[in-house]
Amino acid sequence: MMLRKRVLVTGGAGFLGSHLCERLLAQGSDVLCLDNFFTGTKDNVLPLLDNRHFELMRHDVTFPLYVEVDEIYNLACPASPIHYQHDPVQTTKTSVHGAINMLGLAKRVKAKVFQASTSEVYGDPSVHPQTEDYRGNVNPIGPRACYDEGKRCAETLFFDYHRQHKMRIKVARIFNTYGPRMHPNDGRVVSNFIVQALRGKSITIFGDGSQTRSFCYVDDLIEGFLRLMATGDEVTGPVNLGNPGEFTIRQLAELVLSETGSRSKLVFKPLPQDDPLQRQPDITIAKRLLDWQPTVPLKDGIRRTIAYFDELLRRIGDQVTA
Ligand SMILES: NC(=O)c1ccc[n+]([C@@H]2O[C@H](COP(=O)([O-])OP(=O)(O)OC[C@H]3O[C@@H](n4cnc5c(N)ncnc54)[C@H](O)[C@@H]3O)[C@@H](O)[C@H]2O)c1
Repeated sequence: MMLRKRVLVTGGAGFLGSHLCERLLAQGSDVLCLDNFFTGTKDNVLPLLDNRHFELMRHDVTFPLYVEVDEIYNLACPASPIHYQHDPVQTTKTSVHGAINMLGLAKRVKAKVFQASTSEVYGDPSVHPQTEDYRGNVNPIGPRACYDEGKRCAETLFFDYHRQHKMRIKVARIFNTYGPRMHPNDGRVVSNFIVQALRGKSITIFGDGSQTRSFCYVDDLIEGFLRLMATGDEVTGPVNLGNPGEFTIRQLAELVLSETGSRSKLVFKPLPQDDPLQRQPDITIAKRLLDWQPTVPLKDGIRRTIAYFDELLRRIGDQVTA
């Protein structure tokens, strides 16, 4: 009998986690989805609950966990500034204690372990686009530090466990990703613009809108996760995963306006502290090691995301405040 791979996804009821669980089930894995439901919801995994190979567990990664698995994807962590600054001490604990607990578990059960790191480890970069060997420009005492430094420390732990205990690790540095099941109230630019446009409210642009971002569609990103996890033991990362296509925030706003057919106006507000002006992944390593690059054009991805939010707003409209 073929044994199914047993895979743990922490933060599995979140935006990226729910897409990952779906793909893993489709590949024939047994999926244990763990979440404390801080920003994730049961709704995100509702269609998976009928699958006998899917299991949902309420647990906080800052506490140890004892389960038998072959692979671990560690995604648990609030990802947007609004959410990670809500309780900054808890955010650092989630990254650091979460990494220690998942690495400890992986060591005990000899599992391969994947870390969802972030382009925020580069801070406000002085190198453009960012390559993996760039060490970053992070303010260690600013309001974003709980997330940025938490993720940097998690990377340190992954590499120390690898060197000290010969563990199989895979570290992905994820750049801005968007798609269905993003949190509607998280203040991230794509969800903000779409929700504002669909409700006919003004679209808020921080700064003059000339700052650029790269936006990766979620399906492309998850393909990158799976390919990275499937690499040989010599591949540890860090590997940048994101879409190098660069757009200004203003261009994004205009695309959302035209795709929703909304008559919302653009309004401009001051830039928040430590907000990076420019960020774009160099994905040379991902191309070479994983034969991976994004394939979904921004327009298509935005359309699919608008369709999701349109349905969501009809269902829960008044609870969304963006
Ligand atoms: N979406 C992006 O653009 C992006 C970019 C860079 C990095 N990441 C990383 O990817 C991961 C997933 O991000 P996302 O966009 O899906 O965000 P998300 O907020 O939708 O998902 C995070 C999930 O982790 C859960 N969680 C938070 N703290 C927890 C804890 N202590 N114990 C257990 N579960 C906990 C949340 O409830 C949520 O379901 C995060 O680690 C994030 O830092 C995401």
